[in-house]
Amino acid sequence: MGKTLTEKLIAAHLVSGSMEPGAEVALRIDQTLTQDATGTMAYLEFESMGIDRVRTKRSVAYIDHNTLQSGFENADDHRYIQSVAAKHGIWFSRPGNGICHQVHLERFGVPGQTLIGSDSHTPTGGGIGMLAFGAGGMDVAVAMGGGAYYITMPKVIKVELTGALRPFVTAKDISLEVLRLLSVKGGVGHVMEWGGPGIAGLSVPERATITNMGTELGATTSIFPSDEVTRAFLRAQGREANFTPLSADPDAAYDRIIHIDLDTLEPLIACPHMPDKVVPVRSLKGVKVDQVCVGSCTNSSLYDLLKTAAMLKGRTVAPSVSMSVSPGSRQVLTMLANCGALSDILVSGARLLECACGPCIGMGFSPNSGGVSLRTFNRNFEGRSGTADAKVYLVSPETAVAAALTGEITDPRDLGLDALHVDLPDRFLIDDSAVLAPASPEEAAHLDVLRGPNIKEFPQGKPVGDAITAKLTLKVGDNITTDHIMPAGSKILPYRSNIPKLSEFCFAVCDKEFAQNAKAAGETILVGGSNYGQGSSREHAALVPLYLGVRAVIAKSFARIHAANLINAGILPLTFANPDDYDALTQGETLTLTGIDAGLDSGTMTLHAGNREIPVCGSFTKRQAAMLRAGGLLNYTKEGND
Ligand code: F3S
Repeated sequence: MGKTLTEKLIAAHLVSGSMEPGAEVALRIDQTLTQDATGTMAYLEFESMGIDRVRTKRSVAYIDHNTLQSGFENADDHRYIQSVAAKHGIWFSRPGNGICHQVHLERFGVPGQTLIGSDSHTPTGGGIGMLAFGAGGMDVAVAMGGGAYYITMPKVIKVELTGALRPFVTAKDISLEVLRLLSVKGGVGHVMEWGGPGIAGLSVPERATITNMGTELGATTSIFPSDEVTRAFLRAQGREANFTPLSADPDAAYDRIIHIDLDTLEPLIACPHMPDKVVPVRSLKGVKVDQVCVGSCTNSSLYDLLKTAAMLKGRTVAPSVSMSVSPGSRQVLTMLANCGALSDILVSGARLLECACGPCIGMGFSPNSGGVSLRTFNRNFEGRSGTADAKVYLVSPETAVAAALTGEITDPRDLGLDALHVDLPDRFLIDDSAVLAPASPEEAAHLDVLRGPNIKEFPQGKPVGDAITAKLTLKVGDNITTDHIMPAGSKILPYRSNIPKLSEFCFAVCDKEFAQNAKAAGETILVGGSNYGQGSSREHAALVPLYLGVRAVIAKSFARIHAANLINAGILPLTFANPDDYDALTQGETLTLTGIDAGLDSGTMTLHAGNREIPVCGSFTKRQAAMLRAGGLLNYTKEGND
């Protein structure tokens, strides 16, 4: 029996474990990346392990989330990351150089290598055949220290593409179609492996749009083969030496195969407030639009912005629409400027924003209150735009521009424009002057790490023990995202290395008094519905609850990365044996969890609520059980474990 590409790459990086789906496997990690919102904590954690130099082939620290300076906090954080990177052997991408996933693809990604990043859209690297995972900052710290990265051996879904995209139908529409078919939970426990004759017509930026949005399916990761398209992209980046051909065996067996005929696909749109609420654009024709944003790590490549410029050229953004364009990298921006496409964008009336995440996390360009915003991004969760009552729709750049020009949701095919023909250059403009190399080991010995007052220590986990008595300080419903647990946004991001300050915002969208009540309770057990912790990989969504005394979260089900982050923090993620027991619990009551020590191995524990006994389950590997006994991953690593 042949092997899938996923199996081949896992086998090539296997440190320990069996490759049976569902079993835990430990992988050797070649590359890591961090962004600033999660990076400060990852580097504080790395420092705490007392290792001088990173042991990866390449580690890169990006500043792309909170690039705007509104006080000393961001500047202090950037200087801390820059100095800690120089000292420990990490490359540093300066603010303004671009969004981590776009720059990594352009300048650092290598087909066939493993990559983990403290950002949930790290699977973007699968667009050039990397095995790339979104992980917690603590996992990244451990990988930088040479430790393995542990995943549950995934099943593999093949998405077989046939045909070719028609004019104004795009890679984004392919992503939205898969979300429509599978939902935001449809990829959980799976790698999405892309193949079929249709992939030959997709450029690397288009493939990267698709692997980027595999995260919205809950997939472990997504990957394309590395082929002549990949080689051409790397050659144009001056990195053909990094090319390796990679593909699945022709007789590889998949757990499921999904067929998509590109010839029949049409422009699609995800409605508020979930990426899988997907309908044809034409079905919303005429809905008035207030704001349009082109950019984010999903659609900010040169390819995307050349198409945007071509549609805007000689036309004007409707007076009722405010439009922004954020290039994904300085390379993209410089090339747009050099070929004149930037003028076409600016003359149309669109605003140019910095090469950074910006509006994707509610920074610098939020919609008006109650406004309708069409975005080329990957997420449209409620409130994420920075405006609580905005309605955010997810679309392709073509559909975004069509709405910007007409002032209403418009199928781009109805504009009567000629089909767009955008050729990627044979050679990108290569200028790495905004990427700083680390100091040599000799120089590094004399370097100081610069710590401003916003850099606070991270909270220490406690061993879970055998019983926990704690207050049910908060009970929440289904689909709680990490944005609900620990919101992002311009007011909060400056404190990402300051957990005591951040804790004031924890769960504030669900219950304004949560932080205060949790502190007063001393110890807390949280109760949640299905898919608890979906969304970004934000580790702070585990560390801040830890600081506030959360010892366990009991939910109907968990998102993979968040459950792993909770375990890393020393917090127990448990599920109800009988989901109906969720209804029997009342916020404010005192709960006792017993049988923890034995339950870490057997998988069952008992929750006592008054005189009721509720069975709860936890599925932990031996290593995770040991971590929880030690009080989290850092304590476990400090004890000398791999
Ligand atoms: Fe940035 Fe948004 Fe991507 S925050 S990394 S552009 S999902």
